[in-house]
Amino acid sequence: MSDDGRRLALADELRLVAGAVAAVIDGHHLPVAIGSAGTPFASRAAVRDMSFAAVRELGRLRALVERLNRRPPQPEVLALQIAALSELLDGRRPPAVVVDQAVRAARSARPTRAAAGLVNAILRRFVREREALLAGVAGDPVARWNFPRWWIDRMAAEHPAHWERVLALANVPPPMTLRVNTRRTSLTDARERLVKAGLGADVIGPRALRLHDAVPVERLPGFTEGLLSVQDLGAQLAAELLPLEPGQRVLDACAAPGGKSASMLEQHDVRLVCMDRDEQRLLRLRSDMGRLGLSPEKVTSGDAAAPDAWWDGEPFDAILADVPCSASGIVRRHPEIRWLRRRRDIATFASQQSQILDGLWPALRPGGKLLYATCSVFVAEGSDVIDAFLRRVPEARRLPLTASFDGAVEPIAQLLPESSASREHDGFFYALIEKLK
Ligand SMILES: C[S@@+](CC[C@H](N)C(=O)[O-])C[C@H]1O[C@@H](n2cnc3c(N)ncnc32)[C@H](O)[C@@H]1O
Repeated sequence: MSDDGRRLALADELRLVAGAVAAVIDGHHLPVAIGSAGTPFASRAAVRDMSFAAVRELGRLRALVERLNRRPPQPEVLALQIAALSELLDGRRPPAVVVDQAVRAARSARPTRAAAGLVNAILRRFVREREALLAGVAGDPVARWNFPRWWIDRMAAEHPAHWERVLALANVPPPMTLRVNTRRTSLTDARERLVKAGLGADVIGPRALRLHDAVPVERLPGFTEGLLSVQDLGAQLAAELLPLEPGQRVLDACAAPGGKSASMLEQHDVRLVCMDRDEQRLLRLRSDMGRLGLSPEKVTSGDAAAPDAWWDGEPFDAILADVPCSASGIVRRHPEIRWLRRRRDIATFASQQSQILDGLWPALRPGGKLLYATCSVFVAEGSDVIDAFLRRVPEARRLPLTASFDGAVEPIAQLLPESSASREHDGFFYALIEKLK
């Protein structure tokens, strides 16, 4: 595809969205699935938004496709039907245009060409019988909530008072939240610069601004100069919840791509060691530290669960363990995660998380503090991991944590996603553990 500055026809965009949907169904993450390399710049945002919308609604769209087709269509045809149905549900374009463009998309490539008539018939039927078809799938929880059944059941069992709100929130495009680098500017000045550039923003935390409309980072005034970073308020809490003193030696044990490391260094003059198992992800950490003008003491690759390979024997005063997890708290930003995870993955994450805690513990000095963090909303990765750790390690003591939202101080442990005028964050779990002397 050439990039002559013009936006593609809807037919071509639908084909790209169908490719992304097919790749997610095949097990790929959305950014890889969308793979904007060949897409003209003018169509990238649209293809991205349409792909995200289709993946967010995949439960309902698959249920519709199942009802509309007499037998399962070929994967490419299925993906194109999903892309087109998603666009019809979106409702911003006239249905006749969407159907016509979807049929063109089907005709334009071999795997779907033979099914162009079928695509036409299926989409027309959807337009005619839309309400009845939607009502017909509404009783299926997967179609209703757009989550796998095991995920819905787990959320309902673990968060009986909140699960419906949390699942519904995952299907709303999230706002973009920024962290202000207070070493280089103030919250007020950063907000004023944004407003002058035509970007409305609300203050939602001590260093956090919520943009009224998401924009590419290049459009943020001061981004290149390191005044701002993109980071959810829930993630920004880590640097506040781990108490740090100037000069302390601190380990961020699962640091890449570096959001929480940078947030700590923007607020505290500590000797920070940034470690991660993934060298590639550490490249992003290094480059972001450069952009923000921050200097960790060391950036190193290492397996937090196996300290013999990387620990020099000098104890750390504080450790952040932002462990790998299901990412179930950030599904509104990564809608494909719910379709890629399997029920059994949660136990695997929990055992990895316990191994990391055990690996890090000897490297913490007596009296030192470790902040355990996950972006999960599942108990198995949060309080279960911490309770089991406290049971097997007698010299570990859990300390209470509080955070302030909109002026009100409240205890913090499992933070469920919230999105309201006064409160905006993803789902996280935090636990602070002290090593008794
Ligand atoms: C939730 S992400 C960390 C996000 C990061 N703290 C931030 O705020 O940008 C988890 C990280 O843990 C790393 N990781 C997974 N297993 C690890 C291990 N055994 N030791 C060290 N890092 C590990 C992953 O490569 C991933 O970068």
